[in-house]
Amino acid sequence: MAEKIIRTIGVLTSGGDAPGMNAAIRAVVRTALGKGLKVRGIRRGYSGLLNEEIIDLSARDVSDTIQRGGTILQTARCEEMRTIEGQQKAAAICKKYGIDGLVVIGGDGSFKGAQKLSDYGVNTIGLPGTIDLDIACTEYTIGFDTAVNTAMEAIDKVRDTSTSHERCSIIEVMGRDAGYLALWCGIANGAERILLPEEHDYNEEKIVADIKENRKRGKKHYIIINAEGIGDSMNMAKRIEEETGMETRATILGHMQRGGSPTAKDRVYASIMGAMAVDLLLEGKTNRVVGYKHGEYIDFDINEALAMQKGIPQYQYDIAQQLAL
Ligand code: ADP
Ligand code: F6P
Repeated sequence: MAEKIIRTIGVLTSGGDAPGMNAAIRAVVRTALGKGLKVRGIRRGYSGLLNEEIIDLSARDVSDTIQRGGTILQTARCEEMRTIEGQQKAAAICKKYGIDGLVVIGGDGSFKGAQKLSDYGVNTIGLPGTIDLDIACTEYTIGFDTAVNTAMEAIDKVRDTSTSHERCSIIEVMGRDAGYLALWCGIANGAERILLPEEHDYNEEKIVADIKENRKRGKKHYIIINAEGIGDSMNMAKRIEEETGMETRATILGHMQRGGSPTAKDRVYASIMGAMAVDLLLEGKTNRVVGYKHGEYIDFDINEALAMQKGIPQYQYDIAQQLAL
């Protein structure tokens, strides 16, 4: 079959937003325009696609965006896209607007939508956009670096007051199903404990005993980084205070971790990935996702990428615990 000629590229952001998404959008737009293509921006992810919220994008439309958090295209979650009817309708709308190639910036869920669109004849490339770092085919996801730095700075501040008052502090970071943000903060902030959704069977009695032991050794605070997926931070604080006699406070960092100006790393990696997505489409590729592994940007088949597994590296987790001595 003759390779499809790509004349118009669409771009959308889907799922949770992440700092650096704008850098990726900008790179898609400017790379495509530079190569003589037309670019259409789709607002509000798949929901906007199904509602035909489609706009032309010029080089100037993405001016002054590389440093901005969030996504200028907005993002959404869309149940209809999970249905065959929704997927067929989305592919038909792409055809109606002449969108031959689509760049989807999001997480695994968003890639499943891209996979379906590819089945229905729209060439698709996924870019990994999530602060959770939970995409198996890549060591880097757009937004993680900014989010971990944002959380780290916030935790440093909590640590100051925790030390002054000689308290235990439980700080809940994002990560419903994935503990990478918690693990990184645990190491970067020198936490005494890291509780990850991947390790559900943490032992609260052991934590209580450890807090008491630490007090005897003269430690002035006790920091627990709790991933969102563990939950229960407020009640945990009450229980720990009761059991240890050490004043304990819980702080839930929440959505502030998803906002803010992207770091240099997120701007640069997202820019390269955005440009690469356009080049892959021009090579006639479809159903691919761009990842970063062993120091290189590489693309994977979406089906294979979704089948890959990723767990918390046990060695890094053990080191975090060792360093909390
Ligand atoms: P993320 O992309 O960050 O993993 P979600 O899991 O919320 O976020 O997925 C984002 C969107 O991708 C969903 O709201 C839905 O529109 C689409 N999506 C998720 N799973 C599927 C699926 N199995 N088939 C088609 N589209 C899907
Ligand atoms: O962006 C990823 C993530 O932050 C998860 O860690 C979290 O569970 C989820 O998004 C929450 O997203 P929302 O509040 O938008 O549903």
